[in-house]
Amino acid sequence: MTDIRFDGRVAIITGAGNGLGKDYALELARRGAKVVVNDLGGSGSGQGESHNAADLVVQEIRDAGGEAVANYDSVSTRAGGAAIVQTALDAFGKVDICINNAGFLRNARFEDLTDQQIDAIIDVHLKGAIYVAQPAYKAMRANGYGRFLFTGSASAMFGHAWQANYAAAKGGLMGLSHIVAIEGSAYGITSNLLMPTAQSRLAAEMDAGFMEIPAFAESVQGADYAASADRIEVPFNTPLVVYLVSEQCTSTHGIYSQNSGRYAKVRINAADGWVAPMGSTPPSAEDIAAHWDAITDPAVSHEPLTVYDEFTAERRHETLETGSNGIVRGQPGWNPQKIGLFVVL
Ligand SMILES: NC(=O)c1ccc[n+]([C@@H]2O[C@H](COP(=O)([O-])OP(=O)(O)OC[C@H]3O[C@@H](n4cnc5c(N)ncnc54)[C@H](O)[C@@H]3O)[C@@H](O)[C@H]2O)c1
Repeated sequence: MTDIRFDGRVAIITGAGNGLGKDYALELARRGAKVVVNDLGGSGSGQGESHNAADLVVQEIRDAGGEAVANYDSVSTRAGGAAIVQTALDAFGKVDICINNAGFLRNARFEDLTDQQIDAIIDVHLKGAIYVAQPAYKAMRANGYGRFLFTGSASAMFGHAWQANYAAAKGGLMGLSHIVAIEGSAYGITSNLLMPTAQSRLAAEMDAGFMEIPAFAESVQGADYAASADRIEVPFNTPLVVYLVSEQCTSTHGIYSQNSGRYAKVRINAADGWVAPMGSTPPSAEDIAAHWDAITDPAVSHEPLTVYDEFTAERRHETLETGSNGIVRGQPGWNPQKIGLFVVL
């Protein structure tokens, strides 16, 4: 396989002054990318500001012969997002890659979360990603090429106690990435979501108070850390990131997990389910209870890639399901657009 290179490519990496973002920036620059190193320079809980974090990474890239510029704006405001993208346009003339990575934690019990803890986390992770991605998307669209990587989290996709604010924000990024992928497909733009894992300074923000929840504590205690102790490290995430934002990778609309050197696609699946008898009469709650095993059966599942795939999935039953009115479900040629039906969610 040919080397993955980024010569002539311009990458924005938010929160690149520490941890994961720093490693992505160093590696992309080593492989030829011109990098905008954005970092507000605050603490692991998002307090304070400093130019140091971004400056040191830019210096390290330049010392190694690479090209980089620093940006110190916060992703959490629309003006900050615009300034970050403008830094790339001013310094390098375009944007090819945008890795939305900046963030911090403010963990607490769900019922104790304050407006301040909720707003700060939604602002940096969810709104921050939108504020940077919108102007970056416009710049990419103009060039007919782009690679977005949003940073999600296993806390959102699988669950973690005392992180309701964080999981809500990170879960939102999954939806955001899906839509950017769908709309961007017309303009050579891909978008994927990463669920990284690493011992970074964010680990220091993980108050173990969540161990008060028995079922969750059992899950924490059951984890086999010993086998992966020296692999819960930042550099294990970087190869996947480099591939996902490369020209070679045309996969889009995906969610990828990295944990202790295990790389895997994470899918949103719908079970094959149970189809109610045809006709305009909905089933009863008792019908739902009676078919619960089929509704939840994991044996067969489907991966809808747009809202409308849920409709076409009904065609699976066309040989099986004939309603009381004799109409076979999922007749060939059925098309929501054709009959003027769009889904309002
Ligand atoms: N470390 C993990 O195991 C893990 C797991 C899942 C998701 N993540 C996510 O990965 C990303 C990187 O985390 P990390 O572990 O490298 O943490 P980190 O604290 O080492 O790095 C995050 C960087 O973001 C910067 N930042 C914070 N707020 C900012 C803002 N408003 N504008 C610009 N920069 C800002 C910080 O200054 C910091 O340098 C975060 O989004 C985090 O939620 C991390």
